[in-house]
Amino acid sequence: MTARRHLLSSADLDRDQVGAILDTATEMHTVQRREVKKLPTLRGRTVVNLFFEDSTRTRSSFEIAGKWLSADVINISAKGSSTSKGESLRDTVMTVAAMGVDALVIRHPASGAAHQVSQWVDAHVVNAGDGTHEHPTQALLDAYTMQRRLGSLEGRHVAIVGDLTHSRVVRSNLITLRTLGARVTLVAPPTLMPSGVTTWAATEGFALSHDLDEVLPTVDAVMMLRVQRERMSGGYFPTAREYTVGYGLTRARLDALVAANPDAVICHPGPMNRGLEIAADAADAAQSLVLDQVSAGVAVRMSVLYHLLAGEEVSS
Ligand code: CP
Repeated sequence: MTARRHLLSSADLDRDQVGAILDTATEMHTVQRREVKKLPTLRGRTVVNLFFEDSTRTRSSFEIAGKWLSADVINISAKGSSTSKGESLRDTVMTVAAMGVDALVIRHPASGAAHQVSQWVDAHVVNAGDGTHEHPTQALLDAYTMQRRLGSLEGRHVAIVGDLTHSRVVRSNLITLRTLGARVTLVAPPTLMPSGVTTWAATEGFALSHDLDEVLPTVDAVMMLRVQRERMSGGYFPTAREYTVGYGLTRARLDALVAANPDAVICHPGPMNRGLEIAADAADAAQSLVLDQVSAGVAVRMSVLYHLLAGEEVSS
């Protein structure tokens, strides 16, 4: 079981804990609309964002979240750190921790890195994405965004579509959505279904499909995942065109989705490959919550930092 003071996996959070984080995020969201976007909550606390992989949304939203809560926020990236001189992860983390930080927000290409770091330091550790394993704050902000549009997610049908093999978002989303009572279907070509997914689906109670056109008219929300070409070493699909024909949210599929359920919503955690997994028409449609997800990222990360550093513990 995870130590009570970290957020390493979506599985650390039960329904009440997810609810508490999302409720606090609703309060934090009001700060975004203020002229002076500052709360004194984390004054005197230090948050370090330690990013060993590229990021736009997660890193900047954690930075904004910390600053709006009045924490001192330091950003360290692998490219500008002693990691590029050969320093080990442990030595880098121990060096940063020795300076007296209160929270470490870590992104790393290795699955399990955040958990490993939590064993080495006294600071609170937040997993900001570890390899193909998990991205718990992404799942929280996705749930927050969907809830704001759809209301309770209990019994709602969410399809998660695309490159599931290389996605950490799918694992965290699946856990959080199931925690909130949603029905989930994973849709992907056979080559992009993670190994062992059939057993996983049977034990965790979610559905699998290779047919997006069959699933799409039944959903309340569809989450398109990025094709992670930088993690692919082999040929997972013949051509980009064939991937789009089979699994892209094209203009025709957007029309089918809206015809079946005008209230259905479209999510994408970003960054998007426009024209590959999602057409510009779908990314920019009235049904798209892509920018709402980005906005929610700040509020949800404020809430997570608040619960870890100043409020109720978020994990058990
Ligand atoms: N969704 C997400 O994690 O985006 P970034 O890689 O830009 O942080």
